[in-house]
Amino acid sequence: MAVRCVLHAAAVLIGCSAATAGMDIDEYMPRSELIELTDEEAQRQRERVLREAERARVQAAERERHEAAERMRIDAEHAARPFAVRLIEQRCVGCHDMELVTFKPRTRIGWEWVVLRMQWINGAALAPGERTIIATHLADRHRAPARRALAELATALLVFGIAGWLSWRRIRTHRAHDRNEPENPR
Ligand code: HEC
Repeated sequence: MAVRCVLHAAAVLIGCSAATAGMDIDEYMPRSELIELTDEEAQRQRERVLREAERARVQAAERERHEAAERMRIDAEHAARPFAVRLIEQRCVGCHDMELVTFKPRTRIGWEWVVLRMQWINGAALAPGERTIIATHLADRHRAPARRALAELATALLVFGIAGWLSWRRIRTHRAHDRNEPENPR
């Protein structure tokens, strides 16, 4: 009896020191593979594992089917996009993204000018005719209100008007100057 008491106390002490050494209480639990199963229990366990494996397989197949359908849908959607959209993605998205292209609506002339600028100044490589396709599409989808077109037209007229008036004045003063100068001064 005394021996049993001492052993018990030692076990508690060891247990305590193990616990204070940061070990997990689960490590003292009997491990499941050490549990003796009856044949019937083993059979039930095997069946459960098989059922779970089957369920996981069905779920994986389902997921795979779903992803394939989604991929096909996206591919079809891509193929169905208008030619101009695909062209813009090829020619314009590379130096910058699509957001920069479309964030600001422009008039037809505004779009034509931006694409020209991309071609001449920034070096976008476009085949002949592509500029019109791109500018037309962008003007259709991201068109600025007519008000802006009028403002642009008015500005253009003003600028050309002033430039025209200035050069006309220059020509006139030159002519007047020429008339007052003697033909062959001696
Ligand atoms: C070789 C590189 C390059 C390519 C290709 C290119 N861009 Fe750009 N784009 C730029 C750079 C650099 C800027 C910023 C400087 C500027 O505004 O010119 C810019 C700016 C822009 C802007 C904003 C300009 C503004 O004033 O708001 C638009 C819109 C734009 N690009 C449209 C296009 C379109 C449409 C195409 C296809 C035809 C295109 N870009 C192709 C380089 C490129």
